[in-house]
Amino acid sequence: MTTILAIESSCDETACAIIRNGNEILSNIVSSQINTHTLYGGVVPEVASRIHVENISTVVTEALAASGCSMDDIDAVAYTLGPGLIGSLHVGVMAAKTIAFAYHKPLVPVHHITGHIYANAFVTELKFPLMALVVSGGHTELVWMKNDYDFEVIGTTADDAIGEAYDKVARVLGLGYPGGPAIDKLAKEGHYNPDYKLPTPKTDDPHNFSFSGLKTAVLQLNDRLKRNGKEVVPADLAWCFQETALNSMVDKTIAAVKEKQPVMTVLAGGVAANSRLRELMSERMKEVPECELVIPPLKYCTDNAAMIGAVGAAAYAHGMFGTFEDAADPGLIMPGEE
Ligand code: KG4
Ligand code: ZN
Repeated sequence: MTTILAIESSCDETACAIIRNGNEILSNIVSSQINTHTLYGGVVPEVASRIHVENISTVVTEALAASGCSMDDIDAVAYTLGPGLIGSLHVGVMAAKTIAFAYHKPLVPVHHITGHIYANAFVTELKFPLMALVVSGGHTELVWMKNDYDFEVIGTTADDAIGEAYDKVARVLGLGYPGGPAIDKLAKEGHYNPDYKLPTPKTDDPHNFSFSGLKTAVLQLNDRLKRNGKEVVPADLAWCFQETALNSMVDKTIAAVKEKQPVMTVLAGGVAANSRLRELMSERMKEVPECELVIPPLKYCTDNAAMIGAVGAAAYAHGMFGTFEDAADPGLIMPGEE
């Protein structure tokens, strides 16, 4: 039996979880800063780190209490080493090191994105080879895993992450922050509109993605319509943006799955909460019936510490321990990508 205390603080969620055997959630405490950042229209890094400092001890204490565990029951402290906001990461890294030092526990530093992938372990046992479509505010990647805790990034975005594009388009449509959930909701009321033709993203490598051209096209279209005195129907524009962005991304994912033939495909990251993406992937994966599709429950799509505990357990099993010299790394690359 392995019990991991996990800490996540890479962006605007201060979180701690206690995870048993990699897939059993004894507790999962997430303190979101979203209400504060909404006032500024996005995450303000300095504000985020200050709130992490204020909340980190409380979430750790609450996670331990809710799990019914004492520190004697904890085998290791897993934490997000990167990537993310440097000031935010520092708080979680220092908390993890302090706990590990005080209670003589091994440290297990993990890559935030690997956590998003392992959030699927709460749904079912991961099977390999596995393809992960990672879609978040900072990443859009196809990750190929031949085995457990073995990552190869086979596709990435040439420019913006998909979550970033959602957030920017939402700002133009006056939907506020975070934009992803707002566009998801608004697009349900939208329809195809022949005046809102948007370009399909193009990339050199078939595994790669691109969203900046599409984002700019939405901004320019919005400006042009306004200049010409035409009424902009936000729901239709949201619908057209979402359909173009998601269909292009899902097309590439399905092609990669057909090419690499994994036994399991998983969705991961904040944008995996998107209802249309979940629907499209479920529909299109019927073309590859021999491959199982796994989609994490909504609450494990956005940032949390349970997922860090899940991947932490895999890293622990592989002996991937850290040291007190490890420093928060905002640009950390995926393990195996060195
Ligand atoms: O994984 P995450 O919580 O943080 C990062 O690691 O980046 O992802 C946050 C991103 C934001 O861009 C947010 O707008 C997007 O996920 N997001 C969504 C939805 N829920 C969150 N995007 C589209 N549809 C959603 N329902
Ligand atoms: Zn994330």
